[in-house]
Amino acid sequence: MSELELQGIRKLYEGVARPVIPDLDLSIGSGQMAVLVGPSGCGKSTTLRMVAGLEEPTAGTIKIGGRDVTHLQPAERDIAMVFQGYALYPHMSVFENMAFGLRIKHLPEAEIRARVNAAADSLGLTAYLERRPKALSGGQRQRVAIGRAIVREPKVFLFDEPLSNLDAKLRGDMRREIARIHQASKTTSMYVTHDQIEAMTLADVIVVLRDGVVQQIGSPVEIYENPANRFVAGFFGTPSMNFLAADLIAHGDRRAARGGGFEIPLGDAPTLRPAGESDKIVVGIRPERLSLTRREAAADVALAGSVAMREVLGAEVVLHVESAAGALTVRTDAGAAPRPGDQIQVWVDPAAIHLFDGETELRL
Ligand SMILES: Nc1ncnc2c1ncn2[C@@H]1O[C@H](COP(=O)(O)OP(=O)(O)OP(=O)(O)O)[C@@H](O)[C@H]1O
Ligand SMILES: [Mg+2]
Repeated sequence: MSELELQGIRKLYEGVARPVIPDLDLSIGSGQMAVLVGPSGCGKSTTLRMVAGLEEPTAGTIKIGGRDVTHLQPAERDIAMVFQGYALYPHMSVFENMAFGLRIKHLPEAEIRARVNAAADSLGLTAYLERRPKALSGGQRQRVAIGRAIVREPKVFLFDEPLSNLDAKLRGDMRREIARIHQASKTTSMYVTHDQIEAMTLADVIVVLRDGVVQQIGSPVEIYENPANRFVAGFFGTPSMNFLAADLIAHGDRRAARGGGFEIPLGDAPTLRPAGESDKIVVGIRPERLSLTRREAAADVALAGSVAMREVLGAEVVLHVESAAGALTVRTDAGAAPRPGDQIQVWVDPAAIHLFDGETELRL
């Protein structure tokens, strides 16, 4: 069942020519964690704020649990939101910050204590309940903000970049914490981030937005393995996927991608356009799928190039290679020998490539 539904949502800010969100349809299943991801300014926060009731859509309908909430006040929507800034009340203790939303709803005191204590326990905040927010670290403050959302037991959780104020280590810890809480509560959630790692690790379903338009909706694995277009392919993965300009050519029934200094066989590739005049395509290959050694008895294709730069990441090394095919990034183990200036062969497994239309950039 769909718990959160956006139908034909449009958002046009006054005095701005183009709508931020032209026409958005989105359906999030009950208990799912949907992560809205995309570059800065693509409309993630705007979308979330419309669901929260902090922003009015220009057109369209928002439903929570089947109920039309489009014109309801935030407090009437049964949602709880966690922001990037923690927005805690500085003059209240941690306990009172977490209890505040429940007091407004006039819950019995015993119920309030029980819920706040349970959330504090699960978030490791029990020892801090009497402190004021200013006596807490950033990570602890964000825990309080999350706790304040949890105790309300809403139908839908909304998160807008809740971890981006934290340092890298703490961000990882809190990410796992949020994943654990979601596993336990199975509350339908919409999580906004521009961080692809957060999206990959937290999401049941990822929604990729670009200029307010959905590019792809899918599981993290689907998005990584079968990106719908070049934009999605380039957005996920570090370093980014390599893109090589090529022509689609035919040898009888067989097709191949021919680019600068390479020809990659594509078999009979029935899904490609009919053979004929050459066609512009883009070959995509992930840095970890390029190899410095040829696999035995494999149909690997060589790209000759020279190493421009070597970045050591610890267990792995990233080589930046200049080749006739274009710039290549290769991710390999740190034992790999090549140094800047070395002439090397980079091997492509034809089964590991992605093909995109040179004009529409859609996956072929
Ligand atoms: N009140 C407003 N009036 C006019 N334009 C706005 C307003 N609020 C946001 N915008 C514009 O709408 C677009 C989307 O903004 P939004 O905050 O949704 O982006 P975002 O995807 O959350 O980006 P970020 O990752 O930087 O937070 C931006 O171009 C922004 O400038
Ligand atoms: Mg935002």
